[in-house]
Amino acid sequence: MRVRKAVIPAAGLGTRVLPASKAMPKEMIPILDKPAIQYIVEEAVAAGIEDILIITNRGKEIIENHFDRSIELENHLKNQGKEALLNQMKEIADLANIHYLRQKETKGLGHAISLARSFVGDEPFAVLYGDDVILGDDPVTAQLCRAFEEFSLPVVGIKEVSTEDIAKYSSLKVSPIRDNLYKITDMVEKPSPDKIFSLYSVLGRCLLTPEIFDILDTLPPGANNEIQLTDAMAVLARAKGMIGVDFIGTRYDMGNKLGIVKATIEVGLTHPEIGKDLRQYLRAICQNL
Ligand code: UTP
Repeated sequence: MRVRKAVIPAAGLGTRVLPASKAMPKEMIPILDKPAIQYIVEEAVAAGIEDILIITNRGKEIIENHFDRSIELENHLKNQGKEALLNQMKEIADLANIHYLRQKETKGLGHAISLARSFVGDEPFAVLYGDDVILGDDPVTAQLCRAFEEFSLPVVGIKEVSTEDIAKYSSLKVSPIRDNLYKITDMVEKPSPDKIFSLYSVLGRCLLTPEIFDILDTLPPGANNEIQLTDAMAVLARAKGMIGVDFIGTRYDMGNKLGIVKATIEVGLTHPEIGKDLRQYLRAICQNL
């Protein structure tokens, strides 16, 4: 079955990037001239997604406004003869059918996803974490869709993380299938050292089936006293297995300060307007590091 729907959770408190995220969702923090969430919507669209549900809480208007038309701005650009910019602004509003839903209490990623039940209906759906920008020629969501078509099992995007970092993420029980594909039979969120299965962790992308909702609805709070999506996926993994795709692409964690700086520098270096100047600037300051 073709995957047509995606959910982007963007209702976290973003405590790691305060005060930037105090009045504005961290998902609106830009990499250069584009908010993180636009890169994520563009990835979903490039993978063939038509309908997107963004789970928001505070600062909802700013996300809605970003993906809406801005007639006053468009008229201004038109009068100034700035056709390219005008078209770019119109295109943002036409990217996909975007729907919004508010998570009234910040009860965790699993709780945010549970709110998508009626939007999803009985179809498989992609989940793109709102603060994980992953760039590359082959959209990660498309890589997950292909694995779903092949195995008819829920899929997660995975990467190996460092021993120091694994306690901050999830840890997966994996066995290799072929190339960058793995069978996953268990997982644990924020593992203590004795609970680590492997250094493979779910990073930023999942492709789930609606059976996840019944699991989420009966799940007690887990790590950090939040309803954890990992705990619900662990039930699926143990019952029938999931597929892990060690995805191809560069991931930037926009929920952490270093991630934002790395994204800005790397995307900046390839940017047609500023790439050359930035390279020169970095070379100059590197001499004094
Ligand atoms: P994170 O754990 O990175 O978000 O969730 P957070 O809680 O904002 O992070 P910190 O630790 O306080 O800095 C991953 C994704 O899930 C969303 C977040 O917006 C982020 O995109 N999320 C998280 C929700 O939508 N609702 C929640 O209750 C929690």
